[in-house]
Amino acid sequence: MSAPVAAHPVTDALLPVYRRAPMELVRGEGVELIDADGKRYLDFTSGIAVNALGYGDPQLQAVMKRAAEGLIHVSNLFRTAPGEQLADKLVASSFADKVFFANSGAEANEGAFKFARRWARNVGGPAKHEIFSLRGAFHGRLFGTVAATDRPQYRMPFRPLAGGISILERDLDDLDISLNSETTVALILEPIQGEGGVRVFEPEFVRAVRQMTQERRIALIFDEIQCGLGRTGHLYAYERLGVTPDIMTLAKPIAAGLPMGAILATDEIASAMQPGEHGTTFGGGPFVSTVALHVFDRLSDPQLLAHVRELGTWFGEQLHGIAARTNRVRAIRGAGLMWGVDVVEPAGGIIARAREAGLLIVSAGEHTLRMLPPLVSTREDLARGLATLEGVLAAG
Ligand SMILES: Cc1ncc(COP(=O)(O)O)c(C=O)c1O
Repeated sequence: MSAPVAAHPVTDALLPVYRRAPMELVRGEGVELIDADGKRYLDFTSGIAVNALGYGDPQLQAVMKRAAEGLIHVSNLFRTAPGEQLADKLVASSFADKVFFANSGAEANEGAFKFARRWARNVGGPAKHEIFSLRGAFHGRLFGTVAATDRPQYRMPFRPLAGGISILERDLDDLDISLNSETTVALILEPIQGEGGVRVFEPEFVRAVRQMTQERRIALIFDEIQCGLGRTGHLYAYERLGVTPDIMTLAKPIAAGLPMGAILATDEIASAMQPGEHGTTFGGGPFVSTVALHVFDRLSDPQLLAHVRELGTWFGEQLHGIAARTNRVRAIRGAGLMWGVDVVEPAGGIIARAREAGLLIVSAGEHTLRMLPPLVSTREDLARGLATLEGVLAAG
């Protein structure tokens, strides 16, 4: 182990919008993070579903070094190969025909809203304008996406939010009343809601939504920013639903922590967009796309996906065991390596105690723990973290 790095003094120069944990992280190895005092933490957060390949992955490092020696950026006014190759792979592996690269999840969703409106105006005329999301949704914090995000504390201070975007119940009757063929453009949903408490939509529900939206010429957008790209043990979370969307957004793990988002769309939607109607300076540049090409190959490896499915089933069983033994758990939801655990006491205290004990987890609401371990975690890694979690819960 290399010598501990001296802790940087805490600055007050950063905008205080995060309640950050006190330690300073300086290094990562495999599925562990290491702070400035040399303390090791088993990571069940993956940078919130970003670091699917863990830390210090030698292949990833080699690709990044090679990419750094090539072109980093040129304008999207010129062609570069890596972005084109990545788009080809995303199209070949999904329902989609066209891809647009953005720089974050929120930005991808903002673009998706624009694409859907552009298409809907073409097919349904000027009255088509409404975009709906669902109770518990998190789609980002920009003006359009925060209007689609169901967290009062994220929304209230910034009203009036973007118009024509509202939230519906996760209820087919409510959807049936509100989704209107004359006025509705799109419905956006996360196949598994992440921030909203790790809520897994049943295939039957999504199939009914798909039928409704199809009949009413409403675009169905799947936000797979958190649950996509292998997290559920399928390359795309929609694969377990048996339906495809018209638009899908990706981000988080797509470029191993470099900023990238992607909007995938069918030809029907994409053909509505004309030159000049959307754009971004950085999106899909050669450096980030070279890294993303490598990440895509790793995350679409059938062996990795089978590993995630197998470990995920086991992880869920273990969580149920912990619930039975500790009596401190109210509910467990999840798939693959994306799990939410509703706990009796506030999540914040458990998260702080787990951190003390060397395990990093995050919340998804006041009383929900969220676990998103790197997809390369082994059963032994997960067993170690679960044992820590059990100890922490039992001591509550
Ligand atoms: C489902 C979902 N959509 C959108 C976003 C926003 O992504 P970003 O933070 O990259 O803007 C997130 C981030 O947590 C997310 O989980």
